[in-house]
Amino acid sequence: MASKTAFRYIDSEDPSYHSASVDRLITGARIPFDVFIKEAGNIRHLFNKGMVYTSYTGDILRDKGITVFYVNAQDEGNLESYLANPLLYKIREDEDSLLFREYSHEKEQYHQIDSKVLIPGTRINFDLHLLYGFNFSILVEANEKSPATIDETILSSGGDFMIKKTDMPLFNAYLQSLMSKQSEAKLKALAIRENSKLIMEELLENPRSGEAIKRSHDMVNYIVDTVLDSKDAVYDLLDMSKYDFYTYTHSVNVAVMSIGLAGSINLERKEIEKLGLGAMLHDIGKSNVPSEVLNKQGKLTSTEYRIIQNHVVEGEKILRGHRNIPPESLPAVAQHHEKLTGKGYPRGLDNKQISLFGRIAAVADCYDALTTPRPYKPAFTPFYALSILVKEKQDFDCALLKEFIEMLGKVR
Ligand SMILES: [Fe+2]
Ligand SMILES: [Fe+2]
Repeated sequence: MASKTAFRYIDSEDPSYHSASVDRLITGARIPFDVFIKEAGNIRHLFNKGMVYTSYTGDILRDKGITVFYVNAQDEGNLESYLANPLLYKIREDEDSLLFREYSHEKEQYHQIDSKVLIPGTRINFDLHLLYGFNFSILVEANEKSPATIDETILSSGGDFMIKKTDMPLFNAYLQSLMSKQSEAKLKALAIRENSKLIMEELLENPRSGEAIKRSHDMVNYIVDTVLDSKDAVYDLLDMSKYDFYTYTHSVNVAVMSIGLAGSINLERKEIEKLGLGAMLHDIGKSNVPSEVLNKQGKLTSTEYRIIQNHVVEGEKILRGHRNIPPESLPAVAQHHEKLTGKGYPRGLDNKQISLFGRIAAVADCYDALTTPRPYKPAFTPFYALSILVKEKQDFDCALLKEFIEMLGKVR
């Protein structure tokens, strides 16, 4: 499914290109031609022929304001026959789930990054890839021998920016330089967040690594320092630019929001740090959930549902095996799916049994899950997500929820 076409520009006045309206592409149909789009006056290759057009893809194109696509001369006949009867290209339902499984599998080779840490004029020595809908394509080719320079055209590309997991050490070195240089506060915050995502990705793959736990603790300290220094930093530390769900991005977001909320209710610094660590690691038990179950498209069976719910108990078990985790951090892990109504899991604790850390992590966890798209639901806007939390307020600590809404209101 991956495109091997490197980033290239073609003169948009080139008569050998045919254009058609994006509205003519139908959801769930395989596109029998390479798709090009016009960006900054140039035509850029976007999808390889054979990819299936999904509603996700449509949303992304609409977000980018792209209304027209281009097809090169070789594919003219394919374009004509597609436009004449696009329904002929519809895929079967079983093919659809196969495709999604392929995508989930391919996704495991990549790590999502935020393009905001790519500063125009700086050089990178790792490849950049784009995830557009369910399609990966290479955007920039670079390595230590021939680095590439970041420019505005690269940054204006739509979709999620990704790097290969094998390039994570190079990206880490890039982030370290941003964190140690006299970068402005906003950029430093972004670098801290991206670095936290890298560490969480490593930790989810190797949850027994004491060294990665130590580094995640260091990142929590950086986040606490940044948030206590300036409340507005919460916004820079959150990663809301995502077209898909990644447990590592979610973990960092939940830690940032929990730390922000703890700061708002004036917890002591030492307490905030312990809460932050628990919040960062709250879903570490997902490392034991098979990715087919975690990324399943459609309804889960009751067994699959139990496997997913088990991530809480698994997480506690993993963390008890680490010497460096303070026991006070554990309730954020153990109780983040508990509800004040007693209808949560795994223990169905009631109001009085759920600790402050558990209550804070639950609000942050639920909010981030609602604002992230999943294969079976779109991302809700921050406003709509908050209104859902309010509607279900009996499940949460009302005073904390109020503080949380005020915090997110203030940082926007
Ligand atoms: Fe969870
Ligand atoms: Fe979570």
